[in-house]
Amino acid sequence: MYSTRNFIRDPMMLAVLLALIPATCSGEDSLELPMSLAASTPYNSLEESDVAQSGHHIIWGRPNTKDAYFDDMTPTNVTAVVGQTARLPCRVINLGQKDVTWIRKRDIHILTLGVSTYTSDARFTVVRNRKTKEWILQISPVAFRDAGVYECQVSTSPKISLPVTLNVEVQQARIQGPSEVYIQNGSTISLTCVVNTHSENVGAVSWFRNANSLDYDSPRGGVSLEIEKTPIRTTSKLFITRAIRADSGNYTCAPEFADAAFVIVHVVNGEESAAVQTGEGVALVPRLQCAVVGLALLLAAAR
Ligand SMILES: *[C@@H]1O[C@H](CO)[C@@H](O)[C@H](O)[C@H]1NC(C)=O
Ligand SMILES: *[C@@H]1O[C@H](CO)[C@@H](O)[C@H](O)[C@H]1NC(C)=O
Ligand SMILES: *[C@@H]1O[C@H](CO)[C@@H](O)[C@H](O)[C@H]1NC(C)=O
Repeated sequence: MYSTRNFIRDPMMLAVLLALIPATCSGEDSLELPMSLAASTPYNSLEESDVAQSGHHIIWGRPNTKDAYFDDMTPTNVTAVVGQTARLPCRVINLGQKDVTWIRKRDIHILTLGVSTYTSDARFTVVRNRKTKEWILQISPVAFRDAGVYECQVSTSPKISLPVTLNVEVQQARIQGPSEVYIQNGSTISLTCVVNTHSENVGAVSWFRNANSLDYDSPRGGVSLEIEKTPIRTTSKLFITRAIRADSGNYTCAPEFADAAFVIVHVVNGEESAAVQTGEGVALVPRLQCAVVGLALLLAAAR
């Protein structure tokens, strides 16, 4: 399913949308500045600005001229996840007959020139989007060693250049809360697993109990999932209502592209939780949950 909501949350689509807004709203190709404004824009010097923290200068080019310049909405800090696709955007206005080159700063290696690839490493390609005027350097699959600064250059005279920093992370699953939880018999097991994704290519997040995949349609009932996706993380919440002792076990959250995380769940009854208190000092948890569930039941009954 690909709803409008997912569409907007898809970071690539969002980037495309964001890139389209100024292009369609301002029609910059035909935009003529009033003389007074045009006179106030720097003339002889190219705008050289704000050094990225890495010490790499951006040479934007002069906006609103007939010469090529970079769109200042282009992100210059990109994070990707190991094994997935990294996309480094470079949006050039008024490119004309000039070429866009992507260079790896570490070794000054020319990766792409125009739409051609100049490296034997087949993971590098350039994707040109005529509509958004983007020249996207794609690295697929991206590896740790790819982290660093890449520069988008346009062969104007003098040339303009946009350094883009690529960060590469391991995708990790993390289950919120302690690594061992005690749940009162009859109450709800609620587990929240967060995966940092930095990609639209999230993959499925599966749940297992003691190495068996969870069955959401089992006759047991009361097992459900809630999934929330944002451009940087996916959250999968597992709910098991009316927990019984047989629901105890090792619950694993296993994303398709990331290391799994697990939590040990013990379903106990009231008397047992007292025993737990002496042993582990966590008995307040089941007691409190019991009280909360009790309150919820009371409220439900009162309706
Ligand atoms: C770039 O992104 C990384 C990872 O998201 C972050 O740690 C870093 O602080 C960012 N740098 C800047 C200058 O925003
Ligand atoms: C747990 O609750 C179920 C009903 O929710 C009940 O049938 C069962 O006896 C309870 N088990 C214990 C050990 O209290
Ligand atoms: C829980 O299960 C996972 C695999 O599903 C395993 O890697 C982990 O060691 C288990 N933890 C315990 C405490 O048994």
